[in-house]
This record gives sequence, structure tokens and C-alpha cells, in this order.
Amino acid sequence: EKNIDAPIIIIGSGYGGAVSALRLCEAGKKVVMLEMGMNWGKSGIPYSNLLKPDKSAGWLKTKTIAPFFNIFSLKPFTGVLDRLDFEHINIWVGRGVGGGSLVNGGMAVTPKESYFKEVFPNLDSDKFYNIYFPRARQELKVNIISEEFLKECPFYKFTRVGEEEAHKAGFKTMRIPNVYDFSYMEKEYKNEVPRSAFNTEVIYGNNHGKNSLDKTYLQKALDTGNLEILDLHSVDEINVNQDKSYTLKVHQIDTLGKTIAEKTFNCKKLIVAAGTMGTLKLLLKSNAVNNLPIPENLGKNWGNNGNFMTGRNWVKPLSGGTGAKQSTIPVAGVDNWNDPEHPFFAEIAPLPMGMDVATALYLQINRVDKKGSVYYVDDNLKVNWDASNTQKMRENADYFIKKMNRANGGTRAHLLFDNGFGANICYHPLGGCVLGEATNEFGKLKNHDHLFVLDGSLIPGTIGVNPFVTIVALTEYCIENLIQNNEFA
Ligand code: FDA
Repeated sequence: EKNIDAPIIIIGSGYGGAVSALRLCEAGKKVVMLEMGMNWGKSGIPYSNLLKPDKSAGWLKTKTIAPFFNIFSLKPFTGVLDRLDFEHINIWVGRGVGGGSLVNGGMAVTPKESYFKEVFPNLDSDKFYNIYFPRARQELKVNIISEEFLKECPFYKFTRVGEEEAHKAGFKTMRIPNVYDFSYMEKEYKNEVPRSAFNTEVIYGNNHGKNSLDKTYLQKALDTGNLEILDLHSVDEINVNQDKSYTLKVHQIDTLGKTIAEKTFNCKKLIVAAGTMGTLKLLLKSNAVNNLPIPENLGKNWGNNGNFMTGRNWVKPLSGGTGAKQSTIPVAGVDNWNDPEHPFFAEIAPLPMGMDVATALYLQINRVDKKGSVYYVDDNLKVNWDASNTQKMRENADYFIKKMNRANGGTRAHLLFDNGFGANICYHPLGGCVLGEATNEFGKLKNHDHLFVLDGSLIPGTIGVNPFVTIVALTEYCIENLIQNNEFA
């Protein structure tokens, strides 16, 4: 069938799409979800790990693209990890049924309330901290590692060393909750079940342990019988019709990326949840090629959530360094957010290279003092972003690394990054279709009656912590109100 009618279509199966799907399906609505990536659960093809990259490792790439692990060749396949390269920033995204939840580290962090209020002054933060954040954590199956396990497990030596060093340098650390099932992890440590986090699986997908969206929100939505997910369906353009319904130009691909069908989908209600970069591309491109109306500020107020990678090499490995065995699931961070001079949060990240590389890796999250913007020109998405946008982040990284090295020894990680800093590494693109700016207060796109944007693009470029708990809470809030207001009647 080449011309398909559906009452409600959701584009994208990441956090925003999955939450919207569940709540609409529970309300008795029939929903069709279009996802350009593959349905891995259905395919039966296993995910590959960092040290043996295979089918899942790259989105139609001939070489691996995971940071620091980009030396392996690949046969092109519709894998789960993609990288979008712009002039001064590289942005990694997940592809597949479950979106970013398939490739991410599962860190499930609720933002500090004071910062949430600063970022979203118009939202009722009491409601978020009493209702939507707890709801998000419960549905996502967020849990915390046990301190006893953390203390004894050799796979977490990198965390223990990271925390000790941070304390020695005068920093505070915090435990980071995760969606990875830590009771499963304890069993994998004892070799009672197949290993996943302890088998270098994460950024190309986890075969076990991780409660990605296909196991939580999407499974619950499918269980209602009201959701149909069409994978390997990529939306190219959105058109609005005279009667205010929408027509989508879609192409279906095979696992080698070859187009096997061109299709048209028609719907009364459209939810765009293609992730920040996917959503911005679809809306800006549809505006450029066929005049889809968009608000003037679409693409503005965009940021990298202050992502800044950095690391340290020890001249002499500490007593055994961080260990050859490392879990892929981070559980601790340095919390320096309340320092007025150098506010940041730095996740103590693993580097599971299968040997002790005497390197500490950190993903810093900073404020975004200077926002960027995204636009579309000459058939291409562009990001207006350069070194001036990351200046303060670099200063924070420099301060952090110097203080850590003074207390513990070591040098800036020149082995990992050209100049010791990874300013261009971004896992958290946010904003460009900001709640209450480009949309109404619940995500309805301005200039539209039946088009809603529900994903990371609603957050104005920064949230101070890893973003998916916030994306889920915001979507829970928006979709509840949209359904109550009969927007999907
Ligand atoms: P998301 O990107 O999840 O989903 C969008 C979906 O739409 C994708 O599946 C995509 O394929 C699909 N799509 C796009 N365009 C389309 C089109 N034209 N047609 C059809 N489908 C289309 N966050 C966190 O909180 N904790 C963490 O530990 C991490 N770690 C992390 C590691 C790595 C490597 C990455 C890349 C990212 C993280 N993140 C993270 C970030 C987190 O994963 C991210 O913020 C969310 O997945 C964003 O959710 P969205 O709903 O916005 O879109």
C-alpha cells in the first residue's frame, strides 16, 4: 500500500514519541509510529559490543563512529548509532525503535529544581517535582547501584578511583541513577546470566540489562493493541493540506539503506518527535521546499547542553590504574554545580578498551552561556556554533583538570583529544523548538492547529544534567494536557 490514512501519526520512537504513544493509546486512540531506524527486538539480530563492532555499530557507515573507538571497518547496515557532522560540532544520535534509549548510557538524572525553574520559569515546578518527574522515573524503571556492590566490584574500579581523586582535589561527588537493571548486573558479575554492561555493550545497544524504551513505554503502548510501529520508514517532508490535515512523504528502506518503496501518509493529527536534530531538519526542510508554515524562532535557542568531553592521562598509572575491566554503565559524577565561578557537573565515564589505558574520561555538563541556532540552506541542515559558544565550558574543563592533576598527578588527555579537550563532542542536542516560544505551552507548533512537537527540541539548549528524564517528564506533562484539552478528539 502506497497511500495510507491514519488518524494520528508520530514521527520518531525516542523518548518524546514513546511517551506520547503510550498516553494516546491508553486514551483509546489508534496511533501509527514511523521510525527510520530498525526494530532490533523484532529482527533477532544481536547488538554488537565496543570491541567487536558489527551490524548494530553504525548507521550505514563504513567505519565505526563511537568516540575513541573509531578504528574499525564496518559493512554498511542500518545500525543504531549515527553521527551528524557540522563545522564545529559532531552530534551523536540513536536510530532504531527506541531512539536514543538504544545507544545511551542510561543515566537517569533529575535536574536540580533551582535550575529547572531558571530554564522553565513559566512551568509549575511543584507539579513537575511531585508528579511528572516521579512518573517518568517510575515508567523508565530507574534504579541505583548498591554501595556494597560498587565497593567490591572490579568493573567499578574506575568509579572508585574517580571518586577518590575528586575528593582529594576537594570536589563533591554524587551517585547517578540509571535505567540499567542493577540486580541483573549483580547476576552478570556472578556469571549467572549473559554479560552486557560487563561485556563492553552500550553505545551499539545492550543485549541485556538495559531498560530501553522498547522494554518500557513502547512495550506498554503496544500492549494496548492501539499502536502500530513501522520501522525503516523515513519521513522526508511534511505538507499541510487545505483542510488542515497533513500529508507526509515517506521512503521505506532495506537494511542496506536502499529505498524499497515511496509512500504517502495522511493524518489529521501529527506529532513530530524525531529528536532535536531530526525534528528541526524536518520542519525547516519542509518550510524550505514546500512552504510549510513555521514560527520565526524555529531553530533558535539551541544548545549542546554544555557537553564537553575531557580526560586525564596518568604519567605513572595509579596503583593499578582504573582497571582493564570496566562496566559501560556510569554511576558517579562530580557535582560542582553550585560553584558560582565554575559551575559544572562531570560524569565519571568508563573507557572499556579491554586493557588498562591509565586514562580517566569525563563528560562535563555545563551551563550554555551563549546559545546557538540551527537553520536550513542549500539542501542542508547547518548549526550556527563555534568556539565562542564553548569558551566558558573550556575554562571549566581546564579548571577541573588542573585541580585534579595538582591533587593526583596526571596530564590532560592528549591521547584522546587533539588538544586535550573534546569541545566538539555532543550527545545532548537540545532546543530550537522551545516550549512556549516556537510552540504553545503544551507543544503545539505555532501557526498550526494539529501539529505537535514533543521531544528534546522543547528544552532551550540546556538543562544542566543528562536530559532524557526531563524529556520524558515534559512530554508526560504536555500530552496529559493536550489530551485533556481534546486536541486529539
Ligand atoms: P531521540 O533521538 O531519542 O529519538 C528520535 C527518533 O526519531 C530516532 O529513533 C530517530 O531515528 C527518529 N527519526 C529522526 N528523524 C526521522 C525521520 N525523518 N523519519 C523517521 N524517524 C526519524 N541522555 C541521558 O539522559 N542519559 C544518558 O546517559 C545519555 N547518554 C547518551 C549517550 C549517547 C551516545 C547519546 C547519543 C545520547 C545520550 N543521551 C543521554 C541523550 C539522550 O539519548 C537524548 O537526549 C534522547 O534520546 C533524546 O530524546 P528525543 O525524544 O528527543 O529523541
